[in-house]
Amino acid sequence: MAEELVIIETATKEERYKLLIPQIEALVDGESDITANLSNITAALKQTFNFFWVGFYIVKNNELVLGPFQGPIACTRIAFGKGVCGASWKEAKVIVVPNVDDFPGHIACSSASKSEIVLPAFKDNKVALVLDVDSNQLNDFNSIDHLFLDQIMRVIERFL
Ligand code: SME
Repeated sequence: MAEELVIIETATKEERYKLLIPQIEALVDGESDITANLSNITAALKQTFNFFWVGFYIVKNNELVLGPFQGPIACTRIAFGKGVCGASWKEAKVIVVPNVDDFPGHIACSSASKSEIVLPAFKDNKVALVLDVDSNQLNDFNSIDHLFLDQIMRVIERFL
């Protein structure tokens, strides 16, 4: 396992993702513990992009329960279909929200959060968890985040 995450401070967002993904693969390679792997993935994303909040909500007993994250304290449980995370789970798809005030039912864990992206990971064709990334700036996530964060979800599915 790598001991230090390599980040190029001058790199574009796309270049950072391209450098990050093989490092995430190396971090989780040979480790089967889900908590350990998800924890390192949130840390690697936080270190690389300094996201305001980045973390996982895990499907447990028909609700989402807060998992490993980096950032301010957050809501611990989210019901099926509620908020952006619950909607991503229900619809089993990636949701990008450029302005959280425009998303009906958005759950404001922090009033500083302005935009977000939520992506599901699947086990046995069912959503097993979602990754939630929040920004304190409007419209902070685009097709680059969608493309590369989705690749990270596919890496996560290897150890679910
Ligand atoms: N905003 C999310 C809730 C989770 S927190 O932002 C960390 C939502 O609407 O699902």
